Amino acid sequence: MNHPLDPASPIGVFDSGVGGLTVVRALMERLPFENILYFGDTARVPYGVKSVETIAHYTTQITEFLLERRVKLLIIACNTMAAVAAQVVRDLSPAPVLDVIEAGALAALAATRTRRIGVIGTPTTINSNAYSRAIHEIEPQTRIVSQACALFVPLVEEGWLDHPVTRLTAQEYLKPVLAERIDTLVLGCTHYPLIKPLLQEVCGPEVTLVDSAEAMAERAAALLTDLNLHNPGREAPEYHFFVTDVPLRFQSIGERFLGRSLSNVHVVKW
Ligand code: DGL
Repeated sequence: MNHPLDPASPIGVFDSGVGGLTVVRALMERLPFENILYFGDTARVPYGVKSVETIAHYTTQITEFLLERRVKLLIIACNTMAAVAAQVVRDLSPAPVLDVIEAGALAALAATRTRRIGVIGTPTTINSNAYSRAIHEIEPQTRIVSQACALFVPLVEEGWLDHPVTRLTAQEYLKPVLAERIDTLVLGCTHYPLIKPLLQEVCGPEVTLVDSAEAMAERAAALLTDLNLHNPGREAPEYHFFVTDVPLRFQSIGERFLGRSLSNVHVVKW
């Protein structure tokens, strides 16, 4: 490493679009003194239906962008990028890297009692089997039932968080997963925490939902403690949001994900 990591440096968080703001929101709550740089590739979202090669190429560009700004920790908030390009980020980064899949897998194993776990995500995430691999590496005796839920991302972006169409879609997707008598369901996509109450209703109270955004904030806090990298400053932190496009309804969708107003938005032209 050319330069030691500076505790006052920001945390870099990135995603294919605005969805990763669910992770930023969890980080802001868990680590209220940390500066955060967020990168959302809003011009090229969604990644969840793109090829591994394309996702790896985009991920490299974003990682280099954030490393140039000297982040002390990189967080892959996008499940799809974490599923197929986490190694690309780790190979490039002198700073530690956390990804939502690792965090979600650990949280799922901590939550399950029956070792029957459901995982939902984008088609690319589910096809990659990344969650199954991450869970089986730690606990091989786990039964995992995966289901791609391609329609959830557009439904959430439409704001249909408590809507009959979303409920019906969830019932349809989750029918085969629930038939396997899972006791834990991993929300393996940045967008799904926003429909957590609806999903809980569909799954019933006996299924524990693992929100990878919350799990990630816990992991980040623990890592900063281990590495002695908590920001010693006690002034209000700075948040900057880099995006590759400002699409229609960006502000309102972004604020829904973030749970507060969105300022310091910078457009990056590549
Ligand atoms: N951020 C993606 C994920 O968590 C969802 C949106 C997309 O498909 O790019 O998988």
